[in-house]
Amino acid sequence: MAEKPWGGVFERATDRRVEEFTESVSFDRRLYAQDIDGSLAHARMLAKVGLIEPDECRQIEQVLEEIRREIEQERFPFSAELEDIHMHVERALIDRLGDVGRKLHTARSRNDQVATDLRLWVRGAIDRLDNNIVALQRAFVGRCEKDAGVILPGYTHLRRAQPVLAAHYWLAYCEKLQRDRSRLADCRRRTNVLPLGAAALAGTSLPIDRDDVAARLGFDEVAANSLDAVSDRDFALEFAFALALVAEHLGGWAEEWILWSTEEFGFLKLPEAFCTGSSIMPQKINPDVLELIRGKTARAIGNLQTLLVLVKGLPLGYNRDLQEDKPPLMDSFDTVCASLEVAAPLVDGAELDRAAITARLDRGHLDATTLMEHLIRRGLPQRTAHGLVGRLVRKAMDRGTRLSDLSLDEFREVHADIDEGIYEVLGPEKAVAAMTSHGSTGPAQVEEQVRRWKELLSVESK
Ligand code: ARG
Repeated sequence: MAEKPWGGVFERATDRRVEEFTESVSFDRRLYAQDIDGSLAHARMLAKVGLIEPDECRQIEQVLEEIRREIEQERFPFSAELEDIHMHVERALIDRLGDVGRKLHTARSRNDQVATDLRLWVRGAIDRLDNNIVALQRAFVGRCEKDAGVILPGYTHLRRAQPVLAAHYWLAYCEKLQRDRSRLADCRRRTNVLPLGAAALAGTSLPIDRDDVAARLGFDEVAANSLDAVSDRDFALEFAFALALVAEHLGGWAEEWILWSTEEFGFLKLPEAFCTGSSIMPQKINPDVLELIRGKTARAIGNLQTLLVLVKGLPLGYNRDLQEDKPPLMDSFDTVCASLEVAAPLVDGAELDRAAITARLDRGHLDATTLMEHLIRRGLPQRTAHGLVGRLVRKAMDRGTRLSDLSLDEFREVHADIDEGIYEVLGPEKAVAAMTSHGSTGPAQVEEQVRRWKELLSVESK
């Protein structure tokens, strides 16, 4: 039976069932690097302020690095008896250094320790996630060149609405992902605050130097209130929210591409290496990757919910409930990273079926709004122009033709002033070309945006 670091006051051994029930090392071993980094910074600070000797610090550093290597090489024994990663590392240190090892926990508690480890972990996770998001943005920007000039139907209510450039679609996803990046950067600022030194909840009477620890660990600030420092998991919840929103963005895109790659739409051919088949229907090539990206959104949302409920009503100070923060948070991170990692090559490898898209772009009177704007430019009030074009669309629908197939006489039956110029805005190409407002799908606007994105992501043009 392993001796507990908190065992002094106890007269009875911990029940085995309690050890199994309370352990967290099965999941917080993932924090080993952060735990060791935190301990190294703490030990160096203790030496600096004279709470341990320089030589003791060197021994601690050496053994902590040894433990790190053993964990990385999977030679380090983990067991539920030692509860969590913090106790494992400390116990190994004490086993190897005796009294010197017993000094590391000076002016520290597992409460400020776990908060520090988790902040370090979230900070690193944000940086990794940001790289993955950029990779996906690059894939979308890459598509803009591949699909130059391609016009797609734009939808509202999933009904054909107005024509837009394919690049306009791709950059819309880039915008969403850019907001995710900015949200993560913002969350990172609040994450990068050092709790260590809060000790259990009240701080310490020992002469520690928290700024020194913060500088060593790359924290921008030192938490100003020890009680808040050990309780606060806002950063974890914010991160879980940011992750859930990335997942939502991916889920929306996945849904769109699932639709677009159906026989019914026929816009998009997915790369075969990113599809899977059916065990019974030999002809099937299914979009399972996209479906799973859409499906995994549920986990990110569920994990956020779990975390929100976890902290609900918790009194100040550390509460053991907080141990439950890690599995949902880590799962959200793993899930969203995995989705991003398959999304980028999938975006890169898909092909638009230009012929199929062009062949059906004429359906749905996508040029009706530009036609209306043409009439507005000629002096008609918007409501009048809207009504007139509505009647023209009805005429075309009744005859089963496009607006551009109507004769000048037919146009004039609706409004006597209409002249040949009307044909200049009809058809999807002309409707797109007519767009000029900032942020619109007009070719000049989109070209400008592609340039902006390339600069932002420093994508080399091919
Ligand atoms: N394993 C714990 C957690 O993850 C570490 C802190 C334990 N602190 C305590 N006082 N029991 O939250």
